[in-house]
Amino acid sequence: MDLPENQNRPLNIAHRGARSLAPENTLAAARKGLEVGADMWELDIQMTADGELIVIHDSTLKRTSNVREVFPSRKPWLVHEFTLDEIRLLDFGSWFTEQDPFGQIAAGVVTPADLTSYAGVPAPTLDQALSFTRKHNWRVNVEIKDLTRKPGDTQIVNRVMALVTELEMEDRVLISSFNHDYLAQIREAHPHIATGILVSKPHPQPVALLQRFRAQAYHPRLSFLLPRKEIAFLRSKGFGVNVRTVNDRKTMQKLVQAGVSGIFTDFPQVLTSVLACGAGGQEIEGTTPAGEPQPPQGEK
Ligand code: G3P
Ligand code: CA
Repeated sequence: MDLPENQNRPLNIAHRGARSLAPENTLAAARKGLEVGADMWELDIQMTADGELIVIHDSTLKRTSNVREVFPSRKPWLVHEFTLDEIRLLDFGSWFTEQDPFGQIAAGVVTPADLTSYAGVPAPTLDQALSFTRKHNWRVNVEIKDLTRKPGDTQIVNRVMALVTELEMEDRVLISSFNHDYLAQIREAHPHIATGILVSKPHPQPVALLQRFRAQAYHPRLSFLLPRKEIAFLRSKGFGVNVRTVNDRKTMQKLVQAGVSGIFTDFPQVLTSVLACGAGGQEIEGTTPAGEPQPPQGEK
């Protein structure tokens, strides 16, 4: 994948798709990300009970589907305890309409037609998500969820990479994970695949970390943000710095000025307008969400 050092502005990365506008990790959210001008989308991969690769963030199906109604006796509704056929029975869209997790329905930003179309949407398989991405000449960050001590731990990397290779999408994917062993496995078998290192706490020596795993990009949380000179240092060494997850316009502007290579956002529609204005640009009326958007609670 073309990495950010080759471009003069940060990548607009629609986090789980444009999840402020559509149910996260669905093709509807990916489509919204495309519509609002994101450069790529990000998705989360796990494995079903029958070994299929499914796009879903939480380790349970509870928050983002109607699993409690359809399978009331299967608590705690762990993803890896359900087959793909069972997951296909679930509605991954209606919760978004009911909960309006980012307040964008109440703000009138999501159209009634879009809301109607979200009822009953499925969780895509990785095959479907990659095929969508390729069909639209787009790019995707595939985050492989850490399956340590869960079924699929020893297979998920090979399964993801087999699919990426089969679909000839090596130049369209950036693979990331909090499980750095997974990234080492990928680097061993696929020297040219772009990888991003997710960290759950600030790393004292990100350059050394990236060099050790021969990764292309560092993916820190916004709150771990490096001093500007460290961002510049990483960038000067040819590494990307893709910051997660940034939803307010002013912080986006600061990050553009600091020279990061990518910004994960639930509001790619806002980042598109920030990038159009340039780092010091004026606010475009109607594109900044009311208040400071925060991710919803309850993710597991
Ligand atoms: O890959 C960036 C970000 O998605 C990682 O955190 O919890 O949203 O998957 P999370
Ligand atoms: Ca993710």
